[in-house]
Amino acid sequence: MCGIVGAVAKRNIVSMLVNGLLRLEYRGYDSAGLVVVHDAKLERVRSAGRVAELATKSANTYGELGIAHTRWATHGVPSERNAHPHMSRDLIAVVHNGIIENYEELRTELTAQGYEFTSDTDTEVIAHLIHSHYAQGSLLVATQMALSQLVGAYAIGVVAADNPHQLIAARKGSPLLLGVGVGEHFVASDMSALLQVTKNVVYLEEGDVVEVNLANYRIFDQQGNAVQRAVHVSELDNDSVELGEYQHYMQKEIHEQPQALANTLESVCNSQSLVPGIFGAEANTIFPQVESILILACGTSNHSGQVAKYWLEEIAGIPCNVEIASEYRYRVSVPNPKILVVTISQSGETADTLAALIHAKATGHAFTLAICNVPESAIIRQSKLRLLTRAGPEIGVASTKAFTTQLAALFLLTLVMAKLRGRLNADREQQFLHELRHLPAAVQKVLALEPKIAEMAKHFANKHHALFLGRGMHFPIAAEGALKLKEISYIHAEAYPAGELKHGPLALVDADMPVVSVAPNDTLLEKLKSNLQEVKARGGELFVFADAQTHIKESDGVHILQMPEHAGFLSPILHTIPLQLLAYYVALEKGTDVDKPRNLAKSVTVE
Ligand code: AGP
Repeated sequence: MCGIVGAVAKRNIVSMLVNGLLRLEYRGYDSAGLVVVHDAKLERVRSAGRVAELATKSANTYGELGIAHTRWATHGVPSERNAHPHMSRDLIAVVHNGIIENYEELRTELTAQGYEFTSDTDTEVIAHLIHSHYAQGSLLVATQMALSQLVGAYAIGVVAADNPHQLIAARKGSPLLLGVGVGEHFVASDMSALLQVTKNVVYLEEGDVVEVNLANYRIFDQQGNAVQRAVHVSELDNDSVELGEYQHYMQKEIHEQPQALANTLESVCNSQSLVPGIFGAEANTIFPQVESILILACGTSNHSGQVAKYWLEEIAGIPCNVEIASEYRYRVSVPNPKILVVTISQSGETADTLAALIHAKATGHAFTLAICNVPESAIIRQSKLRLLTRAGPEIGVASTKAFTTQLAALFLLTLVMAKLRGRLNADREQQFLHELRHLPAAVQKVLALEPKIAEMAKHFANKHHALFLGRGMHFPIAAEGALKLKEISYIHAEAYPAGELKHGPLALVDADMPVVSVAPNDTLLEKLKSNLQEVKARGGELFVFADAQTHIKESDGVHILQMPEHAGFLSPILHTIPLQLLAYYVALEKGTDVDKPRNLAKSVTVE
């Protein structure tokens, strides 16, 4: 989604702004722009295309104060006139992430006051509102007055032509960080944009407004009181957001999975037993009271929750429901204070998941746990308990290492719950810990299948549809494989529990419909084999990802990818890897923009 970068310094900050936007490209966008204050004028450069184009256009621009933006269109088509920054009467410039819900009404009022609108965006009202208050006070006060009139979500950056060393920023419902330098300061919607200049960061809180100057900054809370916020030192380093030897971030992130899993499991694997405290100190009192689990998440994160349902019910014997966050928040559900509400999110900023969590709390759920990859994110801060996946920054829009580390975290939750409920004796616990320690190496072994999967991908390049089959806890893995394929190769793909095939989707099967099947050597294998026969008998082409001991043989129309030996309950994690690679190589064959698929954004911060 949209990205913001801003800077005030005693040097030309244009390249810093552009580099920051390049770092935010992964979030998804369709236009970009920046404005600098120079010689008491606003100099704006915008582009309806990539940040690279903006870089060329702004190569000769100079400014020591500026704000920049990548826009993912919500109100108004992607075009230069709708690209941010938006200006009011050549005096005020604003960049904005989020959605202003009452913009139509504000637009009518501002038009009546004589303001002329030059875009179709909701953001432009913010620029005019600030302008309308500016004559009566400072830029800070004018911004605070304007914000009090807005309904909706925002992170904003504001500069004024006659105020050459000051930037105002604010957030409500959208993330924004303040970067603290020496004699210079920065703002950004994402830490990765700031790593080039500082690791010292302040996470602005809901409703905060910050006045950023060269030498200092002042933060005010929603009520306008001056407040102190802690300065954190980011754990990220610049290398972690570099592409290195890889062609795409998605490929890099697929290959980072052994390390990401090792990092996520580090504290547990180094210990001799599992304790609730890994989810936060309060887990010791909360977990024993929990009667059932409700998982809320979207997209890939929802798929990890669906796998966890199988684990939690079978291993821990605890009832578990998994809901799409955007549905849960609007339906009437029956609250139970003994439910542990688990939100899963890579970004921790997904608007639907965040809103679902807030809704759950409002209906009386006090037991909340976030499984998330971004410390200090909104979802983490809204939750009582947390387990951070330590996947490192995930840049590719298609989620890969975030998913497998979520699964690892959810497996830990399962084991802790099982132990508390007397369903995990010491031997079994040690056995699971042993399997977890071995997991990174097992994933590495599957990654070695990459060349074979690249060959297999060639069969998909000219196809328009694909079916993915799985059974039991591998059905959500099939769903994840289908999601990966559709999002980056634009091939329509659907997943079905294999037993459902004969209830409808079998009608679709013919020689043009590749059928991908996840075939672990588990208790459902014989059932799955029958389902695959149903496909073969109808001339379907099968691509079977089969464990070593399944004895499914390659034949006419049946392509086998031989997986390592069956990994028990951790098998879904291993079976995810070839599906990620398949989607990646099909996208390469098709020449799509792997890391930035059309129409999509990395963090979906609007509803
Ligand atoms: C997956 O490849 C997607 N990019 C998407 O489904 C994603 O998982 C979803 O938007 C949820 O994001 P989150 O994990 O950051 O909350």
